[in-house]
Amino acid sequence: MNWHNWIRQFHRWLSIAFTATVFANFVAMGLGESPGWVVYAPLLPLFLLLFTGLYMFVLPYATKWRSTRSVSAKA
Ligand code: HEM
Repeated sequence: MNWHNWIRQFHRWLSIAFTATVFANFVAMGLGESPGWVVYAPLLPLFLLLFTGLYMFVLPYATKWRSTRSVSAKA
């Protein structure tokens, strides 16, 4: 599996982890006052989602930029 696929799979599974922590927040709220660690639990997966997501967003442009550069470098 190449690097890009690994990042995509990681983003995919993180989205499940993130969804689970958000769901846990609703359950905890329903039970009364939520403990701090439950309230802040979605932040770690959300941060990792942000970085892996931005990486996936930039990748097609970075590939294009690199290929145009190598073509112009040859010419
Ligand atoms: C926080 C900022 C986020 C950014 C910048 C981001 C960005 C991206 C990008 C660029 C893609 C690839 C789209 C493509 O070209 O096919 C993607 C895929 C995806 N994102 Fe995110 N995302 C973020 C957060 C989330 C969140 C919060 C969830 C769900 C809870 C999520 C779930 C997914 C899923 C399931 C995919 C498809 C993965 C696959 O193709 O296997 N993302 N995201």
